[in-house]
Amino acid sequence: MSELKIWMNGTLKSQAEAVLPVNSAAVFYGTNVFEGLRAYWNPAEEELFCFRLQEHFARIRESMKMNRFTIPYSDADLYEAVRETLRGNQVREDIHMHMVAYVLGTGTDATGPTGLYINPRRRGRVDAQGLKCCISSWVRTSDNAIPIRLKSGPNYQNGRLATLQAKADGYDAAIFLNSHGHVAEGSGATFMMVRKGKIVTPSLTGDILESITRETLIEDVAPRVLGMEIVEREIDRTEVYVAEEAFFCGSGYEITPITSIDRFPLGDGKVGPITQRLSDAYMALVRGTDKKHPEWRTATYRSAAVPTAAGK
Ligand SMILES: Cc1ncc(COP(=O)(O)O)c(C=O)c1O
Repeated sequence: MSELKIWMNGTLKSQAEAVLPVNSAAVFYGTNVFEGLRAYWNPAEEELFCFRLQEHFARIRESMKMNRFTIPYSDADLYEAVRETLRGNQVREDIHMHMVAYVLGTGTDATGPTGLYINPRRRGRVDAQGLKCCISSWVRTSDNAIPIRLKSGPNYQNGRLATLQAKADGYDAAIFLNSHGHVAEGSGATFMMVRKGKIVTPSLTGDILESITRETLIEDVAPRVLGMEIVEREIDRTEVYVAEEAFFCGSGYEITPITSIDRFPLGDGKVGPITQRLSDAYMALVRGTDKKHPEWRTATYRSAAVPTAAGK
């Protein structure tokens, strides 16, 4: 399988060439903000569709704002950069990408040089058979300390600690509680459960990332395809033990079922029917076999109108 090249500040570079200086905040402090994106190959249309780029671009700009730096690219530049990454690598398969904006200065100087790279990665589904999760003893970092709303590389140390402990203890993945003791999210995904027939997810003020997949399910997939509303509210720890179903969702995780939490089986311990229907509907939407919301899918190969005016 050929190596995929990385788009770095306007040029496609080999993995070995795409490097950052050790004397940069980007390397030493991990000062970056990023997006995880997916593009899906639609064989009938012979086209690769990137999902909800506009929302990812808006969120990376919010992350940059909170981190007080900018990059010299408009949204139109970002659309072209993503398409150049995929076209330049002749990608004709499902692909995941990290879009990373970083600070090249050495410390807290807000005016130093910055950069951007887009790293395409072959990444399959997380686990369609279902994860065995635990409630982590590590607490989700709070909005007033290291806010998860800011999608920044160093935030993910919190998730790394929880994931490593979960694996050491024989689980697949961790679920965080926040500092108020309520369920927050997974290390890199939104948490949802089915309780008494309703889909429930923590509210946006519960120390979670403002997930684009969460919004997609709430706004579109659950009401339109399943005829179900998603309830946004605080979730207590014990509620998840007696949930009928649970799943993670996210650009990377897509819809990943959770079949047990702290060894309590959910439902009959198999992938739940609502989770499965949501998963099928989500995959049809992102791939474009479900034709709703064409504005959410950016074509890679055919010429597509891309926004031109957005701010830098
Ligand atoms: C911590 C965290 N929560 C939730 C999500 C899901 O967000 P999205 O649906 O925007 O990919 C992610 C994925 O990036 C994440 O890293």
